[in-house]
Amino acid sequence: MIKETAPSNIALIKYMGKEANNIPSNPSLSYSLPHLLTTVEISKTDASEDQWAALESEYAIELSEKGKARYLKFFKKLKDQFGLSSNYLIQSANNFPSDAGLASSASSFAALTKATYNLAKSELDTEAFQALGFTGEFITDREKLSALSRTGSGSSCRSLFDTWSEWQTDFAVEESFSYSKLLHLAIIAEEDKKEVSSSDAHIKVKSSLLMEGRTARANKRLADLKNALNEKSWEAAFEICWAEFWDMHALFETSEPSFGYMTADSLMVLNECRSYWKANQDGPLVTMDAGPNVHLLFREDQKSCYEDFIKIFENKFKIWGSES
Ligand code: DP6
Repeated sequence: MIKETAPSNIALIKYMGKEANNIPSNPSLSYSLPHLLTTVEISKTDASEDQWAALESEYAIELSEKGKARYLKFFKKLKDQFGLSSNYLIQSANNFPSDAGLASSASSFAALTKATYNLAKSELDTEAFQALGFTGEFITDREKLSALSRTGSGSSCRSLFDTWSEWQTDFAVEESFSYSKLLHLAIIAEEDKKEVSSSDAHIKVKSSLLMEGRTARANKRLADLKNALNEKSWEAAFEICWAEFWDMHALFETSEPSFGYMTADSLMVLNECRSYWKANQDGPLVTMDAGPNVHLLFREDQKSCYEDFIKIFENKFKIWGSES
């Protein structure tokens, strides 16, 4: 039996808009979240086809038929890539509740890629494995695996890395900045499943007039954010991240037909964040994915600010954090 894990990640410069094989319209930059982890176990089965089942755990995953089919289709692709022909049972679990609106395809596709890589390593002899272009050393093979994982779900290509990761086109690479460790809080404004999946959002935003110039804006923000993170300009980083997620949500709202994820509660959380920054001239980086929940990132020296935010929101919303 092969067991592997991968973290989720939160993008500060967003992947939104894509071409075939999940080649993104613009680069993205993310921070990995090991407290939002997927574990995948793969074992051989006598069944006539590959199967998926939830792994027994505190937080069982529920996959729709469509989600299961997508996951198994990607596994088949990985098996072909590695020349594996047996049938397998894939089991997976998250270390966070799947009904909290936090489940991302990033951790589950990255964990499946890593697990299949290890499966191939254990089943093929060294020569055959190397003939596929892999060395067998995860650190050396990581970018190749990132490219593979991208074809399953774009954002998963950034989940092969421990902290910062930048994705330009084919695969993501590891990045490092002066802020090497951040604290994370997710404020769960709504737990229901979203009506428009992020995969569909990538297609729908193409109809927005604001797509014109989007690649240039994302590139500019990426360069500015990297500078800010290198120079420890936290407030500048906050402004860039704020503008970036609003830019993505503006794409949603200006698509034809329009769609969106922002709820009254999301706006309430965002307003609290803005007031906190105003009152303290400091606060967390704030971002949102294609959903109503608000993600906050804190510097390591902002533990008391992190606690402040828990106090502000704990009686109103579910919260999921790196320090709890
Ligand atoms: C809004 O990676 O879920 O989270 O490639 O179709 O699987 P597919 O899309 P997905 O898109 C994630 C988009 C995002 C922003 C981001 O993570 O960069």
